[in-house]
Amino acid sequence: MNKEYILNDVEQMRAWAADFARTLTAPCVVALHGDLGMGKSEIARAVIKTLRGADTVVPSPTFTIVQSYDGISHFDLYRVEDVSELTEVGLEYAMENDITLIEWPEIAQSILPCSTIHVFISNYGDGRKIVVKK
Ligand SMILES: Nc1ncnc2c1ncn2[C@@H]1O[C@H](COP(=O)(O)OP(=O)(O)OP(=O)(O)O)[C@@H](O)[C@H]1O
Ligand SMILES: [Mg+2]
Repeated sequence: MNKEYILNDVEQMRAWAADFARTLTAPCVVALHGDLGMGKSEIARAVIKTLRGADTVVPSPTFTIVQSYDGISHFDLYRVEDVSELTEVGLEYAMENDITLIEWPEIAQSILPCSTIHVFISNYGDGRKIVVKK
């Protein structure tokens, strides 16, 4: 079932992500799709702060590939070039155990569980449209 949301600014995006976060229980996988700067990290940060505390520091995993927060794993697969690297960074283990948030999930497509929640972010005027596919 698809659900669509129009979010006019980053505050609305954070509020949406906080509500979305409260629907997630481990293990589950959230694939965040969207071009550069669309708001994938913004959503991941809001999910993590909602579930692990507003004071939680959420650095971008672009260089480290994964950041972990006691049962939440935040991946950014932008720099991963081969599927074989995904095991090294612990993606399968995380997907089986954690709430796993994945930016640039395309390279992992073949190993994502069919229960993956896909979130598509695109421009909509000055804001964003979110489509959630379960
Ligand atoms: N609903 C919205 N409307 C307008 N701007 C938004 C909205 N949500 C987020 N933004 C802005 O879009 C930018 C999103 O940056 P973010 O780093 O989250 O993108 P990203 O998809 O993770 O990019 P990257 O591909 O580089 O990882 C931020 O500057 C944020 O303020
Ligand atoms: Mg990002």
